[in-house]
Amino acid sequence: MTTTTTGTTKAVGTAHTRVEGRDKVTGAARYAGEIPFAELAHGWLVLSTVTRGRVRSVGAAAVLEMPGVLAVLHHGNAPRVDLDYVGVLGMRPDPTVAVFQHDRVPHAGWPVALVVAETSEQAREAAEALVVRYEEEPHDVTFSGEHPEAYTLPGPAGPAVTGKGDLEAELAASAVVLDAEYSTPEEHHNSMEPHAATALWDGGRLEVVDSNQGTGWIAGELANLFSLDPASVRVRSEHVGGGFGSKGVRAHQVAAVMAATVLSRPVRVVMTRRQLFSLAGHRSPTTQRVRLGADAEGRLRALEHTCLSRTSTVHEFIESGAGVARVLYDAPAHHTSNRVVRLDVPSPTFMRAPGEAPGSFALESALDELAEKCGIDPIELRARNEPEVGPVSGLPFSTRSLPACFREGARRFGWADRDPRPGLRRDGRWLLGTGTAAASFGAGAMASTAAATAEADGTFTVRINAADIGTGARTALTLVAADALGVPTDRVRVRIGDSDFGPAMIAGGSMGTRSWAWAVTTAAEELRERLALSDGIPPEGVTVRSDTTAAVEALAQTERHSYGAQFAEVAVDVTTGEVRVRRMLGIFAAGRIVNPLTARGQFTGGMIWGISMALHEEAVRDRNTGALYGADLAGYHVATNADVPLVEADWVDDPDPGDPVGIKGIGEIGIVGAAAAIANAVWHATGVRHRSLPIRPDRVL
Ligand code: MOS
Repeated sequence: MTTTTTGTTKAVGTAHTRVEGRDKVTGAARYAGEIPFAELAHGWLVLSTVTRGRVRSVGAAAVLEMPGVLAVLHHGNAPRVDLDYVGVLGMRPDPTVAVFQHDRVPHAGWPVALVVAETSEQAREAAEALVVRYEEEPHDVTFSGEHPEAYTLPGPAGPAVTGKGDLEAELAASAVVLDAEYSTPEEHHNSMEPHAATALWDGGRLEVVDSNQGTGWIAGELANLFSLDPASVRVRSEHVGGGFGSKGVRAHQVAAVMAATVLSRPVRVVMTRRQLFSLAGHRSPTTQRVRLGADAEGRLRALEHTCLSRTSTVHEFIESGAGVARVLYDAPAHHTSNRVVRLDVPSPTFMRAPGEAPGSFALESALDELAEKCGIDPIELRARNEPEVGPVSGLPFSTRSLPACFREGARRFGWADRDPRPGLRRDGRWLLGTGTAAASFGAGAMASTAAATAEADGTFTVRINAADIGTGARTALTLVAADALGVPTDRVRVRIGDSDFGPAMIAGGSMGTRSWAWAVTTAAEELRERLALSDGIPPEGVTVRSDTTAAVEALAQTERHSYGAQFAEVAVDVTTGEVRVRRMLGIFAAGRIVNPLTARGQFTGGMIWGISMALHEEAVRDRNTGALYGADLAGYHVATNADVPLVEADWVDDPDPGDPVGIKGIGEIGIVGAAAAIANAVWHATGVRHRSLPIRPDRVL
């Protein structure tokens, strides 16, 4: 139900169900893998069964005799692609997507062939019958804390190394010192809707219907890979069943384009759930070391945070766990560094709050340990270490509402009644404890374009190449547009997910809705002004286009972040080691909240993922085969309903002063700090520190 239907009420800030919600629950919303096309052929990816080596032969001839089989693409016959370009946001292309270009196998689950057939079933049967012979080479997939060949690498959002002050001298002069190692495992984001793409050539244009986080991104990469005029590539992606960082350019789109080109007919490639585990990217495991030195009052003199992660031999991607320390706390000696090591594993990628999610587990656990050592309440310890300016940048904060989050969170959670001593509270066989942690995530904006049209029938159409990956972005943009136009939301329709709508930010970095809302507001406000001066709307409507490039570039240089305070209460069964989260509360300062209904879902979704990260998620790689054990949702455990108790999220008022709507972005901060709050609560319950995730029953006591 729509709660805002009059033009006099501001839509932004009111709860609004998803504009496409009815289509989604009735099945009218079509996803990329189910949109019908005439003459559609189906491709099935064949993945390597060895971890390192070369493809010696692909037994294509035998499967080409099978019913319905149209083609077998492999390194010997597939169209060539070009990898020598700079892609979206300055990123180098991921060579992982350049499928069938050579005979090398760099990891288990590497695509070695695509079998195309008339039906999906025929393609699958032939793919499973395809005999691929390999020449195997020894591999190394074992990630540990000791990798002399590891090297520093800048991350997507910052330098590899930062440093100021004499760390050893400040540690030596500190009254209290903490030196601890933390580790997090390989983790996977499996979207509810697996990756799927259909490619076809239509009148000289390449059309791709796909599930992704930015159609302009995919169109640009495909144009580069296949050396096409960018104007001749169109990618559409209206409904997306989750992305979490995994839905960029991937093997399935590239393979579908190759097959559509070879066969001159539409070809669809859908990843299976198991294939996601090697083709969709994942979060690297990390080992992190945090050294803290403080005076007797808990004020930091020294802070060092180092993070080692793992990438593949074909693509450099770094999980920048040490970045979060560059924002949260300052110290006279302050050093952070991110290193990576290359092993024979699939390429990792962005996974919700890349860097911040594992980094905050280490840093916020360490702060809790320091609070214990100092005999200071963990919230008070953080209050004493609030920085005046960005600890590394030296820039002023646009807003810094972390203390407000802790105050409000402590009040609502009942923190004041907490006895800080561990292992004291009991409920039958359960030991009870509470914990807290800070969260922060960058709040940026990127240039986007939008078009707003006043239609002759009195309605308005907004076109923007946004991606709603389940966040509710399309609904948020509807509210934003309605306010800027000064009309009720039911007179506004927002169309998204089409690269022909022009350049726009991807759904990523928690910057999507904020960047798109800026462009939508700009176009809609100008349209409103133009309509006020005109007398009547011609049959073709009146359209105004916006481009926020100049406005975004003119943003003041400040530290822009969202913040949050996470609270958790856990119960630990001391005989079985079972940990149950009993309740969680997150209070966030994350800019103006456009739609409280979907915003709450974003926050609590991240917090629930934090439960999953703290207690369940762990992809285990077999060092002998180089592959994962149980690469599916039976073997890879995630929090399910029974694991999720009362989870509440709320926010303090924190409009961004540099944004026309006041938005900061809320996509990723919900998971940041959540696992640390739970781990800190487990310590409070039991007196045992957990520095390795997940906190499995066999590790608890
Ligand atoms: Mo996000 S990991 O930028 O989709």
